Amino acid sequence: MRKENIVLVGFMGCGKTTIGKKLARANDCVFIDMDDEIEKRAGMKITDIFEKYGEAEFRKMETELCEELSVRQGCVIATGGGVIKSEKNMELLKKNGIVLYIKASPEHIYNNIRGDKSRPLLNGGNKMKKIRDMMEERRPLYEERSDVEADITGMKSSEAVGLIMDILREMEK
Ligand code: S3P
Repeated sequence: MRKENIVLVGFMGCGKTTIGKKLARANDCVFIDMDDEIEKRAGMKITDIFEKYGEAEFRKMETELCEELSVRQGCVIATGGGVIKSEKNMELLKKNGIVLYIKASPEHIYNNIRGDKSRPLLNGGNKMKKIRDMMEERRPLYEERSDVEADITGMKSSEAVGLIMDILREMEK
């Protein structure tokens, strides 16, 4: 088991959860999905947290969880797509972890989540446009606040895991 955490960041729907589960299995690591953990603790879905308490409250929960995760070891952590908006979150996650940006084209993302209603920030209106606009806005943050990136556009999750394993091995050399 590796000591350092592997922290997956990237835009909503890029596959952090699916890839993270497989990556954890391959590395004999514990898998933690931050959104799932927040939902469990709040006892409600992310959409309901946003609706009832607002995004700011959700962000507080996210940062509290980053604080807890910063002292863990040997985990693969799938973050929520907005975790990189806070510098504090990233400092915390980097304490014990390598931050890997899963990059994918807007089309790849759209294909993954076109029928999905669980992401409040993309609900209502033109989903493709929302993806493009928000991705453009966040791109510099993903690039600046990650340690390494993997472009998985057009790949199946198993191929993406292979690429990420290669990148991690290369970094250990
Ligand atoms: C968000 C991404 C979501 C979830 C919340 C906000 C964001 O996670 O945390 O809806 O701001 O990008 P996923 O990236 O797992 O969809």
